[in-house]
Amino acid sequence: MSTTLTFYGHASFGLQVGQQHLLFDPFFSGNPAASTSADEVDADYILVSHGHSDHLGDALRIAKRCGATVIAVAEIAGWLKEHGVKTHAQHLGGGFTYPFGYCKLTLALHGSDLPDGSYGGNPAGFLLTLPDEQKLYFAGDTGLFGDMRLIGDEGVALALLPIGDNYTMGPADALRAVEFLRPGVVIPMHYNTFPLIRQDAAAWKRQVEEKTDSQVVILQPGESYVLT
Ligand code: NI
Ligand code: MN
Repeated sequence: MSTTLTFYGHASFGLQVGQQHLLFDPFFSGNPAASTSADEVDADYILVSHGHSDHLGDALRIAKRCGATVIAVAEIAGWLKEHGVKTHAQHLGGGFTYPFGYCKLTLALHGSDLPDGSYGGNPAGFLLTLPDEQKLYFAGDTGLFGDMRLIGDEGVALALLPIGDNYTMGPADALRAVEFLRPGVVIPMHYNTFPLIRQDAAAWKRQVEEKTDSQVVILQPGESYVLT
């Protein structure tokens, strides 16, 4: 079963696992880097890492149109449920087996409030174990934390890490994150969307590949990576 990851800009990704379509943090409307629109993407499941508008994004609208289930911490899931969306609430450290594989919520060092000011609970990342047993780690918005070593101990095939700085890890801490996680491949995200988070991804790739055994794949919005 092949798994294809498509970058939509900022921290938005699509993941096709067999017949299942997943979206991570679907931010299209108002996203200057978006490669497509909220009306054009397909979703069975939408994974929302935290409540900030550049992550919750168009989740509500897409979930309604597609009949998708949103996976998030209980506070965000509860808020979306009140807005008429199918949800599956989890919490940090908890996993559940879905048709696309096992999804565990991880720690993320960040904030999380919802667009109307409601409490969004703890921000999260996602560690997916795909049907072929490969693991994909989507860090969400986070600063560096030492327990990334524990995630690395699970054997991460592909890691999606923020490198933008200011709101999340910057390039230097993201390099340390790669050392903790030891992924086969790492894809940078959450940079160059706005001037405040401008970074040189090519320079980061050179540094990471010089200092670690991980390969860096830089995706432009609209580009895909096939996990083999
Ligand atoms: Ni955020
Ligand atoms: Mn963000």
